[in-house]
Amino acid sequence: MTALDKNSLVAVIGGGAMGAGIAQVALQAGHPVALFDNRAGGAQQAVQGIVHQLERQVEKAKMTESFFDDCLSRLHSVESLGQLAHAGLIIEAIVENIDVKRTVFQDLEDICEPTCILASNTSSLSITALAASLKRPERLVGMHFFNPAPLMALVEVISGLATDESVAECIHATAIAWRKKPVRARSTPGFIVNRVARPFYAESFRLVQEQVSDPATLDALMRDAGGFRMGAFELTDLIGHDVNYAVTCSVFDAYYNDTRFQPSLIQKELVDAGRFGRKSGRGFFEYHDGAVKPEPKVLKASGGFDRCVVEGDLGAAHGLVARMGKAGIEVVLRGGSGLLHAGEAVMAMSDGRMACQRAREDGLQNLVLFDLAHDFNQTNRLAITWASNTSEQARADAVALLAQLGIQTSAVADVPGLVVLRTVAMLVNEGAEVVLHGVSSAADVDLAMVAGVNYPIGPLAWADSISPKAIFDCLEHLQASYGEERYRPSLLLRRITQEGRRFHD
Ligand code: NAI
Repeated sequence: MTALDKNSLVAVIGGGAMGAGIAQVALQAGHPVALFDNRAGGAQQAVQGIVHQLERQVEKAKMTESFFDDCLSRLHSVESLGQLAHAGLIIEAIVENIDVKRTVFQDLEDICEPTCILASNTSSLSITALAASLKRPERLVGMHFFNPAPLMALVEVISGLATDESVAECIHATAIAWRKKPVRARSTPGFIVNRVARPFYAESFRLVQEQVSDPATLDALMRDAGGFRMGAFELTDLIGHDVNYAVTCSVFDAYYNDTRFQPSLIQKELVDAGRFGRKSGRGFFEYHDGAVKPEPKVLKASGGFDRCVVEGDLGAAHGLVARMGKAGIEVVLRGGSGLLHAGEAVMAMSDGRMACQRAREDGLQNLVLFDLAHDFNQTNRLAITWASNTSEQARADAVALLAQLGIQTSAVADVPGLVVLRTVAMLVNEGAEVVLHGVSSAADVDLAMVAGVNYPIGPLAWADSISPKAIFDCLEHLQASYGEERYRPSLLLRRITQEGRRFHD
């Protein structure tokens, strides 16, 4: 499918943060661009803002003067929707209210040519519902940019029930021509990113609620071991708890209170207290002048080993074996079930069972469990936990070995799936549901989470790299431990595991 012709007029309705950003993207891609806002002076203000952004690019030598002049000649504000009669594409980025948006689209339909594509930048409203009152619902599509639109690569292209396939394909091709990374999805609550990302916040909040660890330590684990740009606490402090909590509530409502999306009471408490995060000076952390961010808790290490024994395959953690070799530790390999012996410690990566349960079921003494890391060859931090009958010496031995490999350890309470593993398992599970329900493809789910929220790897590719079975087992153990629907593995994950396949086979 071909992209919208460069000479086609792109109109943007709404000159706020998103509208101005989208207009700038279309302008830099070479289109003539018109901006409309119903607030007096709103469109001119947005145009001035765009010009300022382009000037900064010229100053930084990221744009030539001649291209700047060319852009200026193609950008203008309009005073009425009537001036948009010849637009090829109209992108709406106004207030998030279905009635107001519907009225604007109905007005536009009467003004524009039948071939004009109408797109909405809505992040939460149904494209199907927005199109329902239109004469030509097949011409409406979701074109969901991320903030700030000129910088964020992801665009979710959303098809409602009536959206013509050629319209969605044209918007997909147009987004590529605009140097974006588009993904396709059916109109369902949260689309891809705002749905699949929910457990990223929910699992961390739950861990604090269950007193497993503190926000600073959990954030550090998600960053350094998980490979995420930020942990859930610092990220929601940045987003604003009012905004993040409202999105969670809207997704929870839209999925008929499915417990997978259940909002967190500790976040509600922050909202109730007006502790919205950075913008109000306090959220999980404090941001006033002189505020000191708490340090993650780390266990002290002493001693080290000349020799360790590895029984069987350590699975995702096999990178530790090479690291032991590099650290000058003699590694004795034996058959077995994925255990690492260091002094008294019997160490294993979490499989989703609590240490106390695994020690009893597998008949293991001195068990120390460690968490998943995005890259065991590189990680400098890991969460560990142990069974109540694990000796003090065994705990110290596990900490000492990891320190010898350059890995700091943070002790967390004995919970199923520890920190990174359970969060990743839930991200995979939600991604699998999106694919199972035909909302999007595995490739697009992964692309969306990398390009939209900077995950170190797409969740489904992550499952493939560890083994979908390890994720499946973790979820089954979480479900058994909590007795909650929330953790039930997706049917697609179960099927893939049974068939010995991967998401990207
Ligand atoms: P904003 O409040 O900054 O801007 C909205 C603009 O629309 C205002 O300038 C307002 O005067 C104008 N407006 C309101 N009603 C109008 C109407 N009937 N006709 C013409 N103009 C009208 O809002 P923002 O943040 O730019 O969001 C706009 C849309 O983009 C919303 O649907 C929002 O859900 C969506 N979105 C927002 C993101 C964000 O991070 N802010 C991210 C992705 C989507």
